[in-house]
Amino acid sequence: MNIAIIGAGNVGGALGGSWAKAGHRVVFGVREPDSDRTKKLLADTGHGATAQAVAAAAKGADVVVLATPWDAVEDALTALGDLGGKVLIDCTNPLQLNAEGSLSLSLGSTTSGAEEIAAKARGAKVAKAFNTYGWENFANASYPGYGNLKPVMFFCSDSDEAKEKVHQLAADLGFEPMDTGGLGMARSLEPLALLWIRLAIRQGRNPNFVWGMLRR
Ligand SMILES: NC(=O)c1ccc[n+]([C@@H]2O[C@H](COP(=O)([O-])OP(=O)(O)OC[C@H]3O[C@@H](n4cnc5c(N)ncnc54)[C@H](OP(=O)(O)O)[C@@H]3O)[C@@H](O)[C@H]2O)c1
Repeated sequence: MNIAIIGAGNVGGALGGSWAKAGHRVVFGVREPDSDRTKKLLADTGHGATAQAVAAAAKGADVVVLATPWDAVEDALTALGDLGGKVLIDCTNPLQLNAEGSLSLSLGSTTSGAEEIAAKARGAKVAKAFNTYGWENFANASYPGYGNLKPVMFFCSDSDEAKEKVHQLAADLGFEPMDTGGLGMARSLEPLALLWIRLAIRQGRNPNFVWGMLRR
């Protein structure tokens, strides 16, 4: 797939590196394509990854991955313009830092970041995915010692095409893709990210952990 990753920080860099390694054509959509930081990112990513300005990166892409901070989403969507039927994978979480230093979601329950993005992303088929774990787990999704049990990647979308693309991209990273339903399920997936953050960051656990599904 031709994948444009908007926001080349922890999440964008880790996803881009893993997908480039898996054989996808990755272009990072960044604000400073010629900066030293971008050059280092491309050198670290390898596998033919390139960088362009945000709108130019998305132009030739089958899939656009949104991996900016929540408060930059509006700017990034404006820069992207009309997405003309492209699949947009939303990895963001609408986090807010509260006065006493705790983290919470700035919206939820009756809507979600993904649904707000879908309302603003002109022409896009929006999916929510790659938001429930820390980036370390996108750089390396191998968890030895569990036999054939794979880590689960929850996703949701109202678009079958978006679901197919996310399914493939999650499997390519080593996850068991798990379709949780329509985009409204982001109301459940975004709080799951908060649970992961509280366990990993607030309680100081090693961040190399993910959810698995045991069945009988
Ligand atoms: N950190 C995690 O482990 C994790 C896991 C799952 C989901 N998430 C979610 O994923 C998103 C990104 O998190 P992160 O940790 O990767 O953040 P990060 O390391 O701070 O990276 C954010 C990137 O977005 C870019 N950016 C900012 N404003 C932009 C704009 N208007 N247009 C284009 N690019 C812009 C930044 O570029 P500049 O350098 O130019 O500012 C930076 O490269 C957040 O919404 C977060 O909640 C994070």
